[in-house]
Amino acid sequence: MFTGKGGVGKTTCSAAAALHYASAGKTLVISTDATPSLSHIFEISDKQKPAGLPPNLTIKEIGEQEIRQMWDARFGREVYEVFSAFVDIEYKEFVEFMTSILPGLGEEFMVDHIRELCLSGDYANIVWDTAPLGQTLSLLETPALLAEHLRLAPRIYSRLKLGKQSKAPVLEILKRWQKLSTADMDFLRRDVDFTMVTIPEALAVAQLEGTFRELRRFGISVKQIIINNVVKIEDSPFLQTKARQQRPYLKQIHEKYHDLKITELPLFPQEIKGLEKLKELGKILFP
Ligand SMILES: Nc1ncnc2c1ncn2[C@@H]1O[C@H](COP(=O)(O)OP(=O)(O)OP(=O)(O)O)[C@@H](O)[C@H]1O
Ligand SMILES: [Mg+2]
Repeated sequence: MFTGKGGVGKTTCSAAAALHYASAGKTLVISTDATPSLSHIFEISDKQKPAGLPPNLTIKEIGEQEIRQMWDARFGREVYEVFSAFVDIEYKEFVEFMTSILPGLGEEFMVDHIRELCLSGDYANIVWDTAPLGQTLSLLETPALLAEHLRLAPRIYSRLKLGKQSKAPVLEILKRWQKLSTADMDFLRRDVDFTMVTIPEALAVAQLEGTFRELRRFGISVKQIIINNVVKIEDSPFLQTKARQQRPYLKQIHEKYHDLKITELPLFPQEIKGLEKLKELGKILFP
């Protein structure tokens, strides 16, 4: 999973990593950003694979629409059965409400969806490109919150009976959710390698510490830091100034996180799009 604040290069790194992994085995690169940009970076138009894209690389972008549909198919009915015990509401209205007012539930679903993809064994590697950090953290928060809610829920729900059309009792459904939420958190802790992408600038570096603290709170440790946009060739006054500005931040990151794997990516003069550029980046990411 590539995570980090907005615009630091998560999707670019995900694409380059996916291309690298695809040379060794079946690889899926999946984006859970509501406004995904993977196909743009891979220069895919009309969902057509560009020539040269490895046959064992699959690109999947899950937007809001897809999340809603998957949520509906996977959890919608079940959750509805629980809620319709309390509230008189149409199913369609209910799904609209749940996925818009409580976006965290959609994110819980995404974690579960990716866990299932891993369990399916269809891919040797799955590269996960996330939305900017705020959303990634709520993605972690939701399974934790749900677990806490479910710990108390039986006492509250135990005396309630479901509508006549339902078969499974509420408590059983709740127990299943609890198991699911625990499994999703375990999956994030055990099976997902977190790579933090950052840039050598004041705000990005300042936010790092808080992010690491938040992740630790969920029992999640970061394996690697990628420092992107590092000025490597100082052949103009502009770049000399920029490099000088970056130096203290680079030092700070290296000192503070010396126990993690840290990779620096150079600032390229052009935006990174297309297979050639991505391969070039991959060689630096995986020397
Ligand atoms: N090392 C680099 N040198 C030059 N340009 C870069 C570099 N890394 C990324 N870029 C450019 O920066 C822009 C943002 O990169 P990218 O979309 O990967 O960031 P992101 O973290 O995924 O953003 P978001 O938070 O919006 O999802 C892109 O136009 C990309 O081409
Ligand atoms: Mg992105």
